[in-house]
Amino acid sequence: MIRIAAVGDVHLGQDAQGRLRPALEHLPERADVLLLAGDLTRHGTPEEARIVAREFGGLGVPVVAVLGNHDHHSDAVAEVTAVLGGEGGIEVLEGNGVVLPVDGTRLGVAGVKGFGGGFEGRCASAFGEPEMKAFVGHTLDIAGSLRSALASLDADVRVALTHYSPVPDTLHGEPQEIYPFLGAYQLGEAIDESRAALAVHGHAHSGCEHGVTPGGVRVRNVAQPVIRSAFALYCLDEATP
Ligand SMILES: [Fe+2]
Ligand SMILES: [Fe+2]
Repeated sequence: MIRIAAVGDVHLGQDAQGRLRPALEHLPERADVLLLAGDLTRHGTPEEARIVAREFGGLGVPVVAVLGNHDHHSDAVAEVTAVLGGEGGIEVLEGNGVVLPVDGTRLGVAGVKGFGGGFEGRCASAFGEPEMKAFVGHTLDIAGSLRSALASLDADVRVALTHYSPVPDTLHGEPQEIYPFLGAYQLGEAIDESRAALAVHGHAHSGCEHGVTPGGVRVRNVAQPVIRSAFALYCLDEATP
């Protein structure tokens, strides 16, 4: 049994030190790993990343993260990633994966930020202006990275970690007009090709927790306003496809 704790969209600003820590102190008794689904900061500054590093560092379980759109806002992704990894010991994924031993089982986590574009029947296409081609091209590049990262995991159980949603199910509660800015179906296609056991995302603050990909992979929106808790907990066993 693998116990996965997950949360996203904590949006920690410089005034947020210690806000989550009390609820995380006993995490090793309840979970084997903590996944952070992006939007860890408010504006993506290295100073805010230091708050995140202190809040989630040294918890006694591995912490694996992807960044969100907010974490990109200050164009300081490299520095934010370095602070989270260096001061917090947090493994930040973008188009790669990590394999963690959990009680003799190899848990593989592959992560990307993801991007928008929408879902089948109501999605953007790479046609017309260069700006539109660039928008959809970014989605396609990231979905391709997720597909490769998942395929390269030498693991018994695979989990996909993104910020943007791979399915529309977990967006219910959000205005339909903004679905194309909340996720993209190509992420779901990449996950379905991988036989992942679970897909975890954030970003949709007004969405809902539970969804499933067209191929049957469980999807969980762990945005903190959705789970209304310091983290959500999911249990997987090795027999999970
Ligand atoms: Fe967010
Ligand atoms: Fe976001």
